[in-house]
Amino acid sequence: MTTPDPIEDTAGLSVVCETAGTRLVVPPGTSILDAARQAGLDVTAPCADALCGACETWVLEGRPDHRDALLSAEEQARGETMLICVSRGRTPLVLDL
Ligand code: FES
Repeated sequence: MTTPDPIEDTAGLSVVCETAGTRLVVPPGTSILDAARQAGLDVTAPCADALCGACETWVLEGRPDHRDALLSAEEQARGETMLICVSRGRTPLVLDL
């Protein structure tokens, strides 16, 4: 299976942080991780570069646009989790954050 090309990143991505009860609009060029931190969420993410896996987050709704090489192709296809330090969304997302 091949990974689809990332979608063009021209619009803000809507991300609902279910646990925090916060909705983010993540601008192009900004990671979900950075937007979450700017909103005051305490997210464990030591590498911020898709190397460690610490930021792996459950996807409650929506389709991630995986931009990492850490999750396997099968994991990416399932779309149950994503690395929020680099990946975005093909649709608006609801995350377990
Ligand atoms: S912070 Fe290390 S993989 Fe995202």
